[in-house]
Amino acid sequence: MSAPDSVSNAPTPDDIQWIPSSILESVRTADLFSNEAPLTVDYGCGEGAFVLAMAERHPERNFLATERLVGRVEKVCKIAARLGLRNLRVLRLENLYAARFILPPDSVSTSYVSFPDPWPKRAHQNRRLVQPDFLDAVRATLVSGGELRLKTDDLPYFQWMEKIIADSKGWERVAWDDDASHPLTNFEARFIAQGLPIHKTILRKIA
Ligand SMILES: C[S@@+](CC[C@H](N)C(=O)[O-])C[C@H]1O[C@@H](n2cnc3c(N)ncnc32)[C@H](O)[C@@H]1O
Repeated sequence: MSAPDSVSNAPTPDDIQWIPSSILESVRTADLFSNEAPLTVDYGCGEGAFVLAMAERHPERNFLATERLVGRVEKVCKIAARLGLRNLRVLRLENLYAARFILPPDSVSTSYVSFPDPWPKRAHQNRRLVQPDFLDAVRATLVSGGELRLKTDDLPYFQWMEKIIADSKGWERVAWDDDASHPLTNFEARFIAQGLPIHKTILRKIA
């Protein structure tokens, strides 16, 4: 007896993880999803609480999560498969590389960078994700009016972001006023439990 369609069509973790056939050319989003729904990208998704909850809440959107750690990628893919999510793909790749070389231009409606590693030592600050090159690369992937939403608990890193944003052209700053309706990221839940302030800003792509 064959399995009912709803079971046989359930995605597996391998269906959720996206391994590009080539990392030397940008992808067509139509190759990733079965529809052309607006795309949200979560750079450095970690254990994925945020992007999993968003994908569950918003079946009318598509989601791509990037993460460099294999264990985290596997965990997110397993949970997504268990939840039957067909609108989420997970890419194990470095964030800047994904934004610069893999995502096509003008294809993303919203990007999130939540609690990127702060690299507090001065000698390590060149490892921070938010740099002029990263903002330029993310901006190129966004549709006109698309947004990059940044959050960190780390005030010195936020002040660093502010300086880089001030020198980066083609954005307007927007107030982050819909936070209450957003699921928490794994790190955000931890920081809120510790009573730490969260620093955040939204950049909207303008011509
Ligand atoms: C501090 S955690 C935050 C995770 C998640 N965004 C959250 O808020 O819970 C940062 C994550 O980004 C990943 N990461 C750091 N640098 C990365 C890079 N260059 N490319 C891809 N992922 C990266 C780390 O492995 C880690 O899972």
